[in-house]
Amino acid sequence: MNQPRTISPRHLLTAIAEVVGDDPVRQLAVYVHIPFCSSKCHFCDWVTDIQVGRLRSAAAGRSPYIAALCDQIRFYGPQLTRLGYRPTVMYWGGGTPTRLAPDEMRAIKAALDDSFDLSGLVQWSMETTPNDLDPDKLAAMREMGVDRVSVGLQSLNPYQLRKAGRAHSREQALAAVPMLRQAGITNFNVDLISGFPGEDRGSLLRTVQEVVELDPPHISVYPYRATPKTVMAMQLDREFLQAHRPHDMVAAYETAMESLGRAGYHEYCHGYWVRDAAHEDRDGNYKYDLAGDKIGFGSGAESIIGHHLLWNENTRYAAYLSDPRTFSLAHRFTLDEPERLTAPVGGALMTRQGVDFARFHRLTGLSFAELRATGYFTRWFQVLEECGARFLESDTGVRMDPAVIHKAYITHLAQATAGGPAPQRA
Ligand SMILES: C[S@@+](CC[C@H](N)C(=O)[O-])C[C@H]1O[C@@H](n2cnc3c(N)ncnc32)[C@H](O)[C@@H]1O
Ligand code: SF4
Repeated sequence: MNQPRTISPRHLLTAIAEVVGDDPVRQLAVYVHIPFCSSKCHFCDWVTDIQVGRLRSAAAGRSPYIAALCDQIRFYGPQLTRLGYRPTVMYWGGGTPTRLAPDEMRAIKAALDDSFDLSGLVQWSMETTPNDLDPDKLAAMREMGVDRVSVGLQSLNPYQLRKAGRAHSREQALAAVPMLRQAGITNFNVDLISGFPGEDRGSLLRTVQEVVELDPPHISVYPYRATPKTVMAMQLDREFLQAHRPHDMVAAYETAMESLGRAGYHEYCHGYWVRDAAHEDRDGNYKYDLAGDKIGFGSGAESIIGHHLLWNENTRYAAYLSDPRTFSLAHRFTLDEPERLTAPVGGALMTRQGVDFARFHRLTGLSFAELRATGYFTRWFQVLEECGARFLESDTGVRMDPAVIHKAYITHLAQATAGGPAPQRA
């Protein structure tokens, strides 16, 4: 892969303007990254590059970050609005956005309100943990316009929660769902992890069954990824913990699948389960369906906009604080570096619809047929087939046979984690 490079804010905006052309209105997803949490969980691969002290910053430590974030939003927002961009979904993730106090959230929301036309938002989601929630904070979030919450439970087994380094108990996890309902949040998701090292299928099954009894509208089940630099991956390396074999990881996920299927949930994208299609995550349209451009604000945020992939790295936190307008890495999609498109293509293949060629072209400026013919993607598709994937082709797109997506994903994940960083999802 060629060296990633950056781009000046002025050149970036010129490049985006060229791509937008005469398009009067372009839909946009807005992502806001909050790199703070109350604990550094042993499995989590979203915060590996953040030192515990900074991750757990109190208000004084968070304030320079919020100032930088607001500056970045106030710089890009008006210019993107002038180019015709209108946000339809907003997602605050991290980290744990609800680690922020209501006043800090309001300051960020004010920057967004001043910079974008948010009147067309159909969903505003925020990630949380059971221990970073209380009724007052939820009331403030509702008042600001948050209408979807995603809460990480991971497991309801107290032993697994301890092993995972979670900062909450099983009781707090169980109390989170009624607390959301009481606050009037009816659209919410709970995150679970299947295949934790050493967890037997009975324990996972009990968690899934108890969660189903809480009747959440959306459940995400993530097969465990043993990502290097996490505490749990180190414990596996040192044999303090025993990894499941890929075959057992698939079986663990299938345990959750069967239980959720019996309870009336269906999987609309690998790992994402709803009873009612109305509760599908609208942000997923951008993350996986390639529906439109996405701008990510904050250290550690990724964007796909104007045929560019942009991102900031948490390792360059100090640089972000001093110059939040320059993305630390920027890449214009080309067939010379096809590997940059692995995540968007992989994400789209996780959905039932797969990759839609027209959407792909609009988002990246590239022909999918040409991309697929590159040596990199020819091999990548072959590897997925070796992992059990079957591809269904049409004139307008390509999708994976839904019956085998989980098997191909988990087997591929096991290979990736054995040889390098795993494909990340949330
Ligand atoms: C960005 S994290 C934030 C969630 C929130 N801070 C919490 O802890 O509940 C989103 C989700 O990614 C999933 N996740 C993180 N690391 C993972 C890993 N190594 N393997 C599988 N899922 C993981 C977890 O389910 C987590 O809830
Ligand atoms: S799982 Fe959530 S709370 Fe735990 S470290 Fe990751 S982002 Fe923070």
